[in-house]
Amino acid sequence: MPRSSAPDRRKYVPPLVRWFAQAGRDLPWRSTGPRDPYRVWISEAMLQQTRVATVIDYYGRFVTRFPDVHSLAKASEAEVLQLWSGLGYYRRARLLHAGACAVVERHGGRFPATRAELEALPGIGPYTAGAIASLAFDAPEPLVDGNVERVFARLFRIEAAQASAELRRRAWELARALCPEQGAGAWNEALMELGALICTPREPRCELCPLAAVCEALHSGRAKELPLPRQRPEPFAVELEVLCARAGGRLLFCRRPEGGRMAGLWELPTRECVPAGMPTRLYPDQWDARLCEQRLRCREHDGKAGGEPIRVRHSITCHRIRATLVAGELDRIPKGEDWQWRTLAEAPSLGLTGMARKFVRSMERAQREQDRASKKA
Ligand code: ADE
Repeated sequence: MPRSSAPDRRKYVPPLVRWFAQAGRDLPWRSTGPRDPYRVWISEAMLQQTRVATVIDYYGRFVTRFPDVHSLAKASEAEVLQLWSGLGYYRRARLLHAGACAVVERHGGRFPATRAELEALPGIGPYTAGAIASLAFDAPEPLVDGNVERVFARLFRIEAAQASAELRRRAWELARALCPEQGAGAWNEALMELGALICTPREPRCELCPLAAVCEALHSGRAKELPLPRQRPEPFAVELEVLCARAGGRLLFCRRPEGGRMAGLWELPTRECVPAGMPTRLYPDQWDARLCEQRLRCREHDGKAGGEPIRVRHSITCHRIRATLVAGELDRIPKGEDWQWRTLAEAPSLGLTGMARKFVRSMERAQREQDRASKKA
């Protein structure tokens, strides 16, 4: 429904900000005094990735190791990836590192306060620029993320699909119109908090909402239906085999090549099972091809890496993966920086892909079960 006039801020901003002051969560990156733009940046980058409960641990480890932008800029990319490992979308971690270098080089280590300067930094888009400018500097800058889109879709009864260009455009218009001149940081954070705690995707708790009186979706009985569901393509099923090559209690890991997905992270050598002559979808860098570069041969066992075969399910973007561990032996040790031998306990320090982490955990579990069974026998 097109709106003819701008919404009246007074109906939205004061009740929501009051609610946030009393109901907002006490989270490690929130403080009542002035906020450090570096910490706002790190926490928002992580919050775009995963749930608050997960971010709390990652954030704590990250800012303990890199307490400011200088320490992050000085770090190696590999160490940043290692601390990010498990959060997914590793490009974001690389961009954090590049962003820190740019803040040091261009601004002497002090974060700029304007949207234009922030957006000129690597990895900082309109959302993050709005978050840093408003939360750390209280600049009157709006922001829109998935939570804010949902809140606005309901408050203003926008009949558009989740994550659609239409909803995004309307949400930014509303965010600009509603953003107060003073207290923009509190307003923005309150909007996101409302989306996280009350105006949730499936079961909105409208009875507790401080904006219930002005919610158009609630009044027309559409709160649960909006935003409209996203049209997603069917996920593509992918079958992988993952090599468990052991030597002296250690396993062989290889680094993912530069330029592709999850570049620079470590995994067990992997190949995609496709019929002969068919192209792969996820793993053009098949383990056979990588070992072949080194003139290495792998003798595979009967598909079992000790006991029942270990299987892992994993999803990335529009791929639904089923991966099976295959035991094998190499005729020689691969050479070069892209290959490493690690025990299961040492493996996480490499900076593993999400799927490799699942395999490591499954193998540890299988090992514990074996130890228990052999003790009983
Ligand atoms: N989601 C992303 N950033 C957030 C924030 N600062 N507060 C609440 N939820 C969020």
